[in-house]
Amino acid sequence: MIPFNIPCVTGKESVAIQQAITAQNLSGNGSFGKKSCTWLENNLACERAMLTPSCTAALEMTAILADIGPGDEVIMPSYTFVSTANAFALRGAAIRFVDIEPTTMNIDPAAVEAAITEKTKAIMVVHYAGVSCEMELLLQVAEEHGIYLIEDAAQGLMSTYKGKALGTIGHMGTISFHETKNYTCGEGGALLINDPQLIERAEILQEKGTNRSQFIRGQVDKYTWRDIGSSYLLSELNAAYLSVQLDHAEEINEQRLTRWNQYNTELKPLMEDGKLVLPHIPEDFAHNAHMFYIKTDSEETRNELMDYLRSQEIMAVSHYVPLHSSVAGKKYGKFIGEDRYTTTESAKLLRLPLYYGLKEEDVAYVVKAIQQFFDTK
Ligand SMILES: Cc1ncc(COP(=O)(O)O)c(C=O)c1O
Repeated sequence: MIPFNIPCVTGKESVAIQQAITAQNLSGNGSFGKKSCTWLENNLACERAMLTPSCTAALEMTAILADIGPGDEVIMPSYTFVSTANAFALRGAAIRFVDIEPTTMNIDPAAVEAAITEKTKAIMVVHYAGVSCEMELLLQVAEEHGIYLIEDAAQGLMSTYKGKALGTIGHMGTISFHETKNYTCGEGGALLINDPQLIERAEILQEKGTNRSQFIRGQVDKYTWRDIGSSYLLSELNAAYLSVQLDHAEEINEQRLTRWNQYNTELKPLMEDGKLVLPHIPEDFAHNAHMFYIKTDSEETRNELMDYLRSQEIMAVSHYVPLHSSVAGKKYGKFIGEDRYTTTESAKLLRLPLYYGLKEEDVAYVVKAIQQFFDTK
């Protein structure tokens, strides 16, 4: 059986977790937490990184920091994970879903521009499969209209857009360390803050609405309730696991890229025969091999291929059901403009197994099974 994902383990995580236990500091912002934040700040070049219990929590923080409230509109792709929309629906915003570009499955900047109204408060972009959105165009739209640009870079750690790390280009960005991501700690996330004016409030939000961070730094004698907030801190046990993964980030990235490139090379003949479409990586974009997906000619072929691969003990899986078609998507939002690609392209997409530790022969076996499927069609 070749599973779709195996959570990343380098083998050194348990030592770090034991060190955290010995240090008797298990709650947030301990030494492993600080080390991981520093790693993110230095390696991604952002003003401030904060570890959160999940990317979902980090997204909720961005919605509060952007002062989103009832009556505000937030534009985002319909082709995304629920948390991207949920964070803003929780604040009472109206979600405005727009179409994606079929080449990258990322938000279409022209559709964003067309969806802007005087109520638009933020543009939320999602870097699908760790491949950047067209950030220059999106930044231009956000700046022209004086609105927030927030990056859901849940899948994007170690990817760049024209040399800049994903999550550090808009006002804020979020990362996921869920077990399905390239670097993990089970459940975890990070908020990246690029606009220094947002840092002080973010610290308060993270500490249940108090100025406890200032107290810990010795800047105030007592800490008190200052703002709304929640428990948005990552436990030190998770941070210990994560810090080991970050120490090995280059090695993990290289191994994933090797397997991604193998899929890409070995499946190319099927693309040349018009049987399937392979992912497109625009020039100047460096990706992190978060995902290897293929697209077939129809939903029917995709489902047949998925079933065939399962019969060969290979777990390949579909991805997001467009949010505008969901019960909550209809309640809290609506699609603006034409759905040219969101529904049709998502129905054709199939994600292949890809994880740290996946072997060269495993990829060869998956490719062979895909070839066999198309040979018999
Ligand atoms: C685009 C996107 N946003 C947000 C999330 C939520 O991440 P987490 O599970 O860390 O809350 C995910 C997780 O799969 C995701 O893919």
